[in-house]
Amino acid sequence: MSFCSVVVSAGGTREPWDEVRFLGNRSTGRQGCEVARAALEAGAAVTLVAANVEAALIPHGVTVVDAPTAEDMLHHMTAFLPQADLVVMCAAVADFRPIRVAGKISRHDATIPTLELERTPDVLLNLIRQRREGQTIVGFGALAGSEAQVRENGRKKALDKGADLLCVNRVGDGHGFATATNTLIFFDSQGNERGQASGTKFEVAQAMLRLAGEISQSH
Ligand code: CTP
Repeated sequence: MSFCSVVVSAGGTREPWDEVRFLGNRSTGRQGCEVARAALEAGAAVTLVAANVEAALIPHGVTVVDAPTAEDMLHHMTAFLPQADLVVMCAAVADFRPIRVAGKISRHDATIPTLELERTPDVLLNLIRQRREGQTIVGFGALAGSEAQVRENGRKKALDKGADLLCVNRVGDGHGFATATNTLIFFDSQGNERGQASGTKFEVAQAMLRLAGEISQSH
């Protein structure tokens, strides 16, 4: 692998709506941790920007920075961008967050709360806009539907996002979250399919790193 300094985000952000409650998602952070492990084994210095990742999943030897919310993720990924030659946005960052965060709400309160949401910043898009020459940026996409729909929408998402590499995995029907194995379909920034990988999350991480290395060499 041709990368020396790798920054990987992992896990799922939690967006608070009162002092003890949040909106979250089902990402465990395992795939991001396996990307970090594969990059470490390939000899890179690795920083893991972790959104609520279980400590046992995190490989020894990575530098860990906690980023529990989308705002924290934007802050830390932006701060680490200049030092990275490879950035992998594996975290499931919330797309929406509550506009207001209340003090702890009680079930005995007179009214049932309603949550008003706003969009979160798109971290991947911000990183792509701020990148310098020589950096490779990889995104992930979780898509639902049949295999054909996932391929078609994956191609569209790759063109839309403009990451050097977009790794698409299928969710729903037992695919994707909280599983030991994964299937990724790879697309480049032009929307071309660049193959796929199936296996343990470590094996698909290795395949992703190989392809990201090839793409970075061809720039
Ligand atoms: N992402 C991000 N900031 C967000 C949301 C997502 O950086 N606020 C990143 C994720 O880390 C991932 C990619 O963008 O690399 C996923 O893109 P997104 O368009 O959110 O796709 P999905 O959530 O997978 O699908 P959908 O379009 O259905 O939301």
